[in-house]
Amino acid sequence: MTEKTEILVTGGTGTLGHAVVGRLLDGGHGVRSLSRHPHTGTGRPRPRSYAVDLRDGTGLAEAVAGVDTVVHCASTPAGGDTEAAGRLIEAARRAGVRHLVYISIVGVDRIPLRYYRTKLAVERLVAGAGIGWTVLRATQFHDLLLELVKTGARSPVIPVPAGIRFQPVDSGEVADRLAELALGRPAGRVADMGGPEVLTADEVVRMTLTAGRRRRLPLPVWLPGATGAALRRGENLAQEDAVGRRTYAEFLAARAGG
Ligand SMILES: NC(=O)c1ccc[n+]([C@@H]2O[C@H](COP(=O)([O-])OP(=O)(O)OC[C@H]3O[C@@H](n4cnc5c(N)ncnc54)[C@H](OP(=O)(O)O)[C@@H]3O)[C@@H](O)[C@H]2O)c1
Repeated sequence: MTEKTEILVTGGTGTLGHAVVGRLLDGGHGVRSLSRHPHTGTGRPRPRSYAVDLRDGTGLAEAVAGVDTVVHCASTPAGGDTEAAGRLIEAARRAGVRHLVYISIVGVDRIPLRYYRTKLAVERLVAGAGIGWTVLRATQFHDLLLELVKTGARSPVIPVPAGIRFQPVDSGEVADRLAELALGRPAGRVADMGGPEVLTADEVVRMTLTAGRRRRLPLPVWLPGATGAALRRGENLAQEDAVGRRTYAEFLAARAGG
């Protein structure tokens, strides 16, 4: 598609959504950002900002009116994503939206975490919406691993899940891919997107602590149940789709450099 497209990015203030908004604005497209809190920032150009809670839907009809494509990045692990997606899809259908793009997570169909089951349910809602759709599953973002380690490092002993690996991917690269998909035709479920290398949880923790010049004692813990077993089998990895380029070490070095 080469004509100017009107695109709504839900979760446009979040880590991924904010980057998607930036990519689309750079491309000269009409961009709207939706989240509970308004989109702020001094950069130009800026998206049109819609402060909407998708779980109650007030103001949603206005946000989607005249939109060609919705990129759905809004999410709350605390709950409510299925209801939010239902409202978004209903509003998109009424407004004549032609393309719904959804970002999901590698392994949502194989790892029985509550949040993953919700993501899978939303994938199914998107696919059954009667609107052209595209779903991309990505592995964990660098940003998420950094936050997890920082949280764990609040105590002197940091728990490290034994036998578990990650394949972190750069959220900026995922944003590039999502923007590309948003500007293309509905493609259904596309190839997964994983980062360039697989790291053990222990490596992730040690690299993060070193980069932050923190000393903590890593303590191996055994994640119980079906979720622990699925993670130890590597169901969160996308080793055949290791298309990301930026490594976790490069991400950490850039952070350290300000
Ligand atoms: N993080 C990862 O490692 C990873 C990996 C693969 C896929 N993903 C997926 O990528 C998406 C974005 O992740 P992220 O890490 O960028 O998340 P994030 O930084 O937490 O951003 C979430 C966004 O959703 C908005 N939001 C949350 N609840 C909302 C609601 N009820 N109504 C409207 N807006 C709402 C938030 O803004 P307000 O708080 O202002 O509403 C924020 O803009 C998610 O679907 C996630 O599952 C993430």
